[in-house]
Amino acid sequence: MHDLGKIAIPDSILLKPGRLSDEEYEVVKTHALLGARVLSGAASELLEVAERIVRHHHERWDGAGYPDGLAGEEIPAVARITAVADVFDVLVHERPYKDSWTVEAAAEEIREGAGTQFDPAVVEAFDALGPAGWRSEVQPV
Ligand SMILES: [Fe+2]
Repeated sequence: MHDLGKIAIPDSILLKPGRLSDEEYEVVKTHALLGARVLSGAASELLEVAERIVRHHHERWDGAGYPDGLAGEEIPAVARITAVADVFDVLVHERPYKDSWTVEAAAEEIREGAGTQFDPAVVEAFDALGPAGWRSEVQPV
């Protein structure tokens, strides 16, 4: 659901094998705001939280993310948690542009992002789960 806005991104970009051009990457980046727009104005606390996740899941702890360039605790906690889960999920699964990584390699990448890409406290909590906690019991359909 955090990538809801990708419904507005052409498949020619989303499914492109290989590296995106700068222009294509700018188009992909719009998914955060487009998705948040779909959820905006909802009269439901749950959907307000969802809107914060959708809008801010690509912000970075160091402020170099998008769409708003928020840094540190300016980024809603739910989005800081989603950022770690999202990157881990992408790394351990195959994508048109990349092979899947092992769980350990993906976890190491997450650890290396603590304090730059990710909230160090969230990475610490992620690490505390360990391999058993990183695996989902729900299999992809
Ligand atoms: Fe995303």
